[in-house]
Amino acid sequence: MHAMSRDAAGPWWHGVLYHVYLRSFADSDGDGVGDIRGLIARLDHLAWLGVDGIWVSPVMPSPNDDWGYDVADYCAVAPEYGSLDDVDELVAAAGERGIRVLFDLVPNHSSDRHPWFLASRSSRDDPKRDWYVWRDPKADGSPPNNWVSSFFGSAWKLDDATGQYYLHSFLEAQADLNWWNEQVRAAFDEILRFWFDRGIAGFRIDVVHKMVKDPELRDNPPASESDSFIERVWGQRELHNADQPQNHAVIRRWRTIAEQYPDPRVLVGETYLFDQRRVGAYHGRDDELHLTFNIPFLWSTFEAGAIRDVVDATTAGYPPDAWPVWNGGSHDISRFPTRWCGGDGRKIRLALMLLLTLRGTALLYYGDEIGMGDGAVDPAAARDPLGRRAPRPNAGRDPARTPMQWTAADGAGFTVPGATTWLPIGDAAACNVESQRGDPGSVLSWCWHLIALRRASTDMSGGAMRFVDGTPGGVLAWRRGERTSVALNLSDEAAVIDGVGGAVRAGTRREREGERVEGTLALDPWEGVVLYE
Ligand code: NOJ
Repeated sequence: MHAMSRDAAGPWWHGVLYHVYLRSFADSDGDGVGDIRGLIARLDHLAWLGVDGIWVSPVMPSPNDDWGYDVADYCAVAPEYGSLDDVDELVAAAGERGIRVLFDLVPNHSSDRHPWFLASRSSRDDPKRDWYVWRDPKADGSPPNNWVSSFFGSAWKLDDATGQYYLHSFLEAQADLNWWNEQVRAAFDEILRFWFDRGIAGFRIDVVHKMVKDPELRDNPPASESDSFIERVWGQRELHNADQPQNHAVIRRWRTIAEQYPDPRVLVGETYLFDQRRVGAYHGRDDELHLTFNIPFLWSTFEAGAIRDVVDATTAGYPPDAWPVWNGGSHDISRFPTRWCGGDGRKIRLALMLLLTLRGTALLYYGDEIGMGDGAVDPAAARDPLGRRAPRPNAGRDPARTPMQWTAADGAGFTVPGATTWLPIGDAAACNVESQRGDPGSVLSWCWHLIALRRASTDMSGGAMRFVDGTPGGVLAWRRGERTSVALNLSDEAAVIDGVGGAVRAGTRREREGERVEGTLALDPWEGVVLYE
């Protein structure tokens, strides 16, 4: 296998990205909440793992109605997470280890406690009135249109003081900015530059497809069978409140700013769309987003046919040179070791293999590398506003946000022993970094091995991908680049595959590594291999 440097294989953001949910990653001061200094202290783990960049969930001051996705100041750091000096130190310390730092940008909405919104709501004549989306009630006093919030209920809140409604696509405490307003656009240009100038390597952009709304605020039509499952849950198609053509102009403007830096900054968009052609359009002509979130993949079932369909739709829907993203989890959905794998170690190893061997950027969520599953959270003690507002209240997204399990000790190495953590710690005795690092058969060792292989192989990091057709049901096999093949058996039946061969470079049954496969490949249930001819 040819050893190649990262540069030869493609830009750094084609590699492995790692999502740090800061609140739950590492707590340096014992207050039970993760922080930037905690993250700095754990960078060696990420460097050892081999990640190229980290995306850090929002660090900006926030009343935490939606845990940082309700920003009260776009150019500062929440004291509970640290300071701007800590950010500088993070960028420098990560840089020394070859790791880029991406931050989370939340442009669709701000907190209702942001000074912009406080000014905007103060009077109809305030200069910032038009920075948000305000409209008169209908004649009967009802909201201006039928749009629903992604967090259930009307997307409009009547503000008694000025007698108008404001738009909130999420919580009432998250007021939508008016992206038709040039001053808003200019303000965000400055926000981007503020962080780029500090060495932030790019942004993950929250609900990037939603910013610009229909200027006439027309009603959405009812959802039909052909709409995404989420639109069917909401009862309406997001025709006028999302994915408007003018949205692309905002992103092109940001791309121009990103390109003005010598180490061009990278834009990663949370394109929460289920039609891959519409997602693909956000790459533009390589003048919009560098990377787009692959939501259909995230929501796929863990079945060969469903995964093949998503991969094919991704390839067909994106521009030919666009580089896809594969992730199995985030802070918004049950973790894949639970959701896809039911805690079965064979399936967890296979899922990691899928993420790390498909052509594209692998985006790991903290804890994926140890196969960390959902934590147990009592719905009555839920911290997530979405769970509390759901038709049947539940723990919402909290189980996917429990603290990182570093060790088996009290506090799991996340915090000091005896500390009260903001969410309960999961089963750290059964699953933690420390015990897995010493075990060559662990999920962590497997994940490390796959990343190392990917970094060492241009086939795996950058090679073209082509499915091998005619494999047995439940099996997926594809070729990468010149000489590499990947085969996964996502079924309870043993399988035999023709047409792939070579030396086993990585195997979920590690004892197979080094074996030569000639002619036919036999796989146990839920087994996978990477072969090199
Ligand atoms: C997507 C974020 O990932 C999620 O956590 C948040 O609640 C919504 N956007 C609203 O900002």
